Amino acid sequence: MKRILGLSMAVGMLGLSSALAGTKSVPTPQALWQEIQILQKNHAIMPESRLFQVGSRTVDAFTTDLANPAAVQSIAQAGGIIHVSRYADHSLLVKENYGMDKQLTGVTAMLKLSKYDAGDRNWVMAAYKPNGTVVAFGKIGSCIACHTMVRQQDFVFAPPPQQLLPVSTWKAFFPKQEMNPAYVALLQEHPEVVVK
Ligand code: HEC
Repeated sequence: MKRILGLSMAVGMLGLSSALAGTKSVPTPQALWQEIQILQKNHAIMPESRLFQVGSRTVDAFTTDLANPAAVQSIAQAGGIIHVSRYADHSLLVKENYGMDKQLTGVTAMLKLSKYDAGDRNWVMAAYKPNGTVVAFGKIGSCIACHTMVRQQDFVFAPPPQQLLPVSTWKAFFPKQEMNPAYVALLQEHPEVVVK
């Protein structure tokens, strides 16, 4: 884990990936943002998520997950997020991050595209500022390094309090960010759901 981290953080923090070149069906970051906005307008909340659930850090003290119909269907067919072994092509999952004051601080997304990144389950990873400015897009090593902890769920976590990550993991990826006290409390209440 440690060894993967150094490399992936370095790659991830570079932001816009050049991995897009030559791949025909990959949307532009702007086109993906349009898709995300449609989910936002339709309040397309991901199954098992809810509005303003507890997030891990003060930058995402509250989160809301969204999902498009392909992803919703994958979850329904499997009987829940923890039972999904493969998401359907073009599944789109989104996490809206809100600060302690419930102001939107950022949006992350993952789009399933067949043949995009076979070694890492073909997810296009993306991060945006609240106004749609692209922060990172493509095969983002840091996103993948953490989401691979739930490889058996095809890289998609169940929202808190169903699955939680230990403080040490959050600190390894985001050393400068403060934990959300409500999340730390969840960890104490539900030690059995911590992903290893
Ligand atoms: C340190 C671990 C970690 C890192 C790094 C990380 N995530 Fe996540 N992510 C999580 C956890 C845990 C959840 C579940 C919490 C929730 O749904 O609110 C999550 C949720 C999500 C979701 C909603 C779908 C799901 O898996 O529940 C998306 C989309 C997402 N992350 C995208 C990204 C992107 C894009 C990046 C990189 C810019 C990233 N994540 C970096 C841990 C991480």
